[in-house]
This record gives sequence, structure tokens and C-alpha cells, in this order.
Amino acid sequence: MSLFVTFEGADGIGKSTICSLIYEELKKRSLKVMRTREPGGTKISEAIRDIILDNDNKEMDIRCEALLYAASRAQHVYEKIRPALNDGYIVLCERYVLSSIAYQAYGRDQRQEDIFAINDYATGGLKPDINFIFQNKEDTHRRKSTPLDRLEKAGDAFHEKVREYYRNIEKEDNYYFIDASQSIEKVYEDTLKILESIGGLK
Ligand code: TYD
Repeated sequence: MSLFVTFEGADGIGKSTICSLIYEELKKRSLKVMRTREPGGTKISEAIRDIILDNDNKEMDIRCEALLYAASRAQHVYEKIRPALNDGYIVLCERYVLSSIAYQAYGRDQRQEDIFAINDYATGGLKPDINFIFQNKEDTHRRKSTPLDRLEKAGDAFHEKVREYYRNIEKEDNYYFIDASQSIEKVYEDTLKILESIGGLK
């Protein structure tokens, strides 16, 4: 049984920690599970990631940025995600299309429809079965990489818009909200419970 699960939320909200705990748990249950992330996940996608996050690329146009994220995603879906799903894997992916809506549409003030359109093209319309959206009413203080990458340097107003998007996102059928202000144990428990009931995991 294949299942496509994504983990979304602002920087530093704890997606990676929970994704890794879930991955270990599903492995323990001897389920076929794969963990991946965006931007990245394949050689070409990682190379695109380097271009996007490179501080030397200060002059990058916001359309170029949006298309590069979509290009990286296209290769990731084609080379890794779809084949794994076809092979019956549970795919756990940190960030996917909603990250582009948060950062490139809301953060960069571009039209949501445009960003959805290029991503629809990039992914061939592949939608997650479960889209976990980690939310925190409080401002999360991100764990920054050293040195800061181009996106991390994009400024407080940009990052505040991104957080606001994730805080106020409207429910869709495959969106599942997780209160990330709780303890890690509780966040993990909530996430696993949804995965078990909606994803049909034992
Ligand atoms: P990364 O180090 O993976 O961030 P994190 O660990 O917080 O997920 O860097 C990816 C950066 O790219 C991050 O700031 C979010 C941003 N991003 C977008 O702007 N659009 C996207 O579509 C994706 C997938 C990420």
C-alpha cells in the first residue's frame, strides 16, 4: 500500500524531528518507507537547491526562484517519489508544493494561482494523501544554518509572511493540522495517530 505524506511548516518548527521519529517507527513495523526532502532528494534537485540557496545569487528574480523550486520538485517527483509510490512505499517528504505557496506566493507577493499552476505542471498533478501542517501560535525561532543561506537572509518581513500563511491556512481535504507548540512527544503522538487512522497503518 503506497502513501504520500508531506510535512509542512515554517523554518525551525520541528518537521525534521517528527519526520525522523515517524520514519524510525514505521521501519520498526517493517513497513516499506522512504524519507526525503525538498528542495533536494536527487542529484539534479540538490544541484538546483545549491543554486537557489547560494548567497552569491543575490540578483535572482523571484520568478526564477519559483521556477527553480518547481524544477527541483519535478525531478524529485519523476526520479524518486513516483517510482517509490509505484513500488508500494510510504513516502515521507519534508516540504512540498505548499512550501512554494508559503514562500514564493505569500512570502514574495506572487499570485497563488500562478505558483499552483507551475507546480501542477512540475508534479504532473501529484498530490499528497496526507499533508501535515505544523502550526505554532507563537513565533518560532528558527535554528539557522551557519553561514546563513540566501533564503534565511531574506528578512524578517518575508519570514513573518511565511509564518502567517501557515498559521492561517484554510482546511482542505488532505490537510491535517498539528499543534507544534506542544512537547515533541505529544506532537509525535498526534502525527502518528493521524497517520494510523487516515493512512490506514497498523
Ligand atoms: P532547508 O535548509 O531545507 O530548510 P528547512 O530545514 O527549514 O526546511 O532550506 C530550504 C529553504 O527553502 C527553506 O528556507 C524553505 C525554502 N523553500 C521555499 O522557499 N520554497 C519551497 O518550495 C521549498 C521546498 C523550500
